[in-house]
Amino acid sequence: MANILIIYSTTDGHTGVICERLRGVVEAGGHDVTVARLDDDPSIDLQPYDKIVIGASIRYGKHNPQVNAFISRNQIVLESKPSAFFSVNVVARKPEKNQPETNPYLQKFLKQISWQPQALAVFAGKIDYPRYGFLDKQAIRFIMWMTKGPTDPTAVVEFTNWESVDEFAGRISEM
Ligand SMILES: Cc1cc2nc3c(=O)[nH]c(=O)nc-3n(C[C@H](O)[C@H](O)[C@H](O)COP(=O)(O)O)c2cc1C
Repeated sequence: MANILIIYSTTDGHTGVICERLRGVVEAGGHDVTVARLDDDPSIDLQPYDKIVIGASIRYGKHNPQVNAFISRNQIVLESKPSAFFSVNVVARKPEKNQPETNPYLQKFLKQISWQPQALAVFAGKIDYPRYGFLDKQAIRFIMWMTKGPTDPTAVVEFTNWESVDEFAGRISEM
């Protein structure tokens, strides 16, 4: 049995929902899982955990810079244990961009950091127009219009493939 930390960065909460799904599957396999939000505990001590998973969502082309800073600060510990990273974005709703090798945000991110996680994943996120402010709503509608996604300003659409989240949970358990 391993003691696993899943730490995540989110703006609208969906990455946290994915973490809870991972927790459910990994715990069902007999492991202990702690889920923490990076904002709440940026100086969390990684040393007590056997495996570390970091998850982050994309906003205007980037993960929160706090994620890069967290990885740099903890590089040595991260390299000493099995570790994994996943990115959440809506470009990943496209089948040709839903793999770590084909998702442009994840590929760009990996070039910015020197940590090399054992397991990588990318998950399609959620569009929740009613919760966005005016400017964000218009920006996302425009991007969706350009990329043939939903533009109805009342739409709430979850693109996440939960089977692929469960499959990643299996890889976390085994790494
Ligand atoms: C203001 C804003 C900007 C976003 N920018 C991007 C983007 O550049 N590329 C992308 O693929 N998804 C983008 N998204 C979609 C988010 O990645 C998606 O909604 C994700 O589920 C958010 O996760 P969170 O709720 O954990 O923050 C954006 C969403 C918002 C609200």
